[in-house]
Amino acid sequence: MKITVVGAGNVGATCANVIAQGDYAREVVLLDIKAGLAEGKALDIWQTAPINGFGTRVVGVTNDYSATAGSAVAVITSGLPRKPGMSRDDLISTNAAIVKSVTENLIKHSPDAILIVVSNPLDVMTYCAYRTAGISPSRVFGMAGILDTARYNAFLAEALNCSPKDIHSVLMGGHGDTMVPLPRYTTVAGIPITELIDPQKLEAIIERTKKGGGEIVNLLGTSAWYAPGAAAALMVEAIVKDEQRIFPCCAWLTGQYGLNQIYMGVPVKLGRNGIEQILELKLNEQELKLVHQSAAAVKEVMEVLDQMNLFD
Ligand code: LAC
Repeated sequence: MKITVVGAGNVGATCANVIAQGDYAREVVLLDIKAGLAEGKALDIWQTAPINGFGTRVVGVTNDYSATAGSAVAVITSGLPRKPGMSRDDLISTNAAIVKSVTENLIKHSPDAILIVVSNPLDVMTYCAYRTAGISPSRVFGMAGILDTARYNAFLAEALNCSPKDIHSVLMGGHGDTMVPLPRYTTVAGIPITELIDPQKLEAIIERTKKGGGEIVNLLGTSAWYAPGAAAALMVEAIVKDEQRIFPCCAWLTGQYGLNQIYMGVPVKLGRNGIEQILELKLNEQELKLVHQSAAAVKEVMEVLDQMNLFD
């Protein structure tokens, strides 16, 4: 299968690299508007094939969407990353036009592709791709929850001095400071997290998770890429291998959790058709309240996009 990754910046190149190392795709096409960038990074990744022993062909192109034709999955990482002091929402005016144009080009050449959006502000850029593509929302969704739960799980593994492999959790809501980690659905090798950590420590980890992206922006002066790139690649793998894996992803809601016509993070099942199912957890009153608060924050930014009149 052919996979396209649009944007050869840090996130896109990392994503392409992780997909290639996985050795399950026939070809990865990396595309960027900056001449030579995608070609150079693709060539470098491809030259690790003899070292690491994978067969996925990696090709880079400058804005040539004909090279992406017939892609089964396309990952959109294009757009500006955050700088210190910026919220993800500050990126909307620049990134909306970029995501719209990228989506148009992708769908023109790969009408059957599944689109995974990674650009920020994530939930609203996923909505932008959906509005542009005019395809089923089961084929347009966003990467955020895997990254946010990975941060949460990594902090928990540190605090408990245990392997991150044994931690499983669910996080819902938008990809911003209102995201909702769910301790009631967090387990370590099947043991509820609440039996292993004191409540103040857990609360501190939840707060750190919510600001996890910003912590890295402050350290690096730009946003993260290793974990975001790997998280998007994990979604690609679940789709290509038709794994029916369950991840929190940014999905179009049509009444689930009492929310309608909104893109937001919820647990979904991923397979060859994209989102195969949206899972509805039995949230308690407090959890539902937090999820609805997060939805309100996302809705506000969706309205900003609507007011930009990009789709008239
Ligand atoms: C982050 C960016 C990619 O959370 O949104 O690191």
